[in-house]
Amino acid sequence: MMDWTDRHCRYFMRLLSPSVRLYTEMVTAQALHHGDSAKLLQYDDCEHPVALQIGGSDPGLMAEAARKGADEGYDEININVGCPSDRVQSGQFGACLMASPGLVADCVRAMKAVTDVPVTIKTRIGIDDFDDYEFLQRFIDTNIDAGCDTFVVHARKALLQGLSPKENRNVPPLNYDRVYRVKEDYPNLTIILNGGVVSVDDCRRHLEQVDGVMIGRQVYHRPWFLTELEEAFGTGQVPSTRFEVIGKMLPYVEYELASGAFLKHITRHMLGLYAGQPGARAWRRYLSENAHRFDAGIDVLEKALEKLPRAA
Ligand SMILES: Cc1cc2nc3c(=O)[nH]c(=O)nc-3n(C[C@H](O)[C@H](O)[C@H](O)COP(=O)(O)O)c2cc1C
Repeated sequence: MMDWTDRHCRYFMRLLSPSVRLYTEMVTAQALHHGDSAKLLQYDDCEHPVALQIGGSDPGLMAEAARKGADEGYDEININVGCPSDRVQSGQFGACLMASPGLVADCVRAMKAVTDVPVTIKTRIGIDDFDDYEFLQRFIDTNIDAGCDTFVVHARKALLQGLSPKENRNVPPLNYDRVYRVKEDYPNLTIILNGGVVSVDDCRRHLEQVDGVMIGRQVYHRPWFLTELEEAFGTGQVPSTRFEVIGKMLPYVEYELASGAFLKHITRHMLGLYAGQPGARAWRRYLSENAHRFDAGIDVLEKALEKLPRAA
């Protein structure tokens, strides 16, 4: 998720769940071509399994991006066909590409030709007035032909005009049946459902119909949810307290600060750690008010901890 799942966020999340698959923010193929790709692709070894999400529609640039991601060791390369923002549309990528399945398929082919790392697609169930099952099916068929066998489907359509990206994550209604039907009709595909999943029970329900569930906002706003998921579906190995997680973050924070990072860029992802717990507000407030200082150091995190009930 743009601006959210950067490498600091992913490091923190990995401490809460050893086996969940993490996704990067979307990185554009253009940025990887023109920019500092080593920096854009930076991640910590502990993040595995980690998928790199790429935005773009130029098969040559997408192939180059996939190769760079694979060389860096990412476990999956995911193509963004879900983002509805204007900036993304003017760059001809994101959700608007649902209307050009052949172009996405050309990208898949070009990317698969240069790497053995799985190339997957994240898409919506439709865009604008193209929101019947046949439209989604045509998109999927075309990309199966190109060799894609894994689709993450955000179970709502995107409206390309008139809604902000935020509204496009809330206003169009969720249609889980559409995603279930894809799995029913294509049992050999790996289908991951996304959108509005907020509890372990939700996951259980969906997992009776599809192969996996992708969760965005609920995990970001309530990171402890990851431990519940790990207990229900993963290794069962979870930190016993939030305090333990912070203890494990401290050496990372110290290292990053010494390397030139700013505290706020790390702690902003940790604000929700105590959501729903005693001390949540004090923790959030102390960090929000103090971590942004130019010279904020590890002591800010330590003092925020003092605001909490002991060893919470
Ligand atoms: C701040 C923010 C940034 C996002 N950035 C991306 C992105 O870069 N790529 C992407 O595929 N989806 C992105 N999304 C959409 C989420 O991945 C997800 O599809 C959407 O939030 C619905 O899932 P949820 O209800 O579990 O949050 C973003 C969502 C948010 C809230």
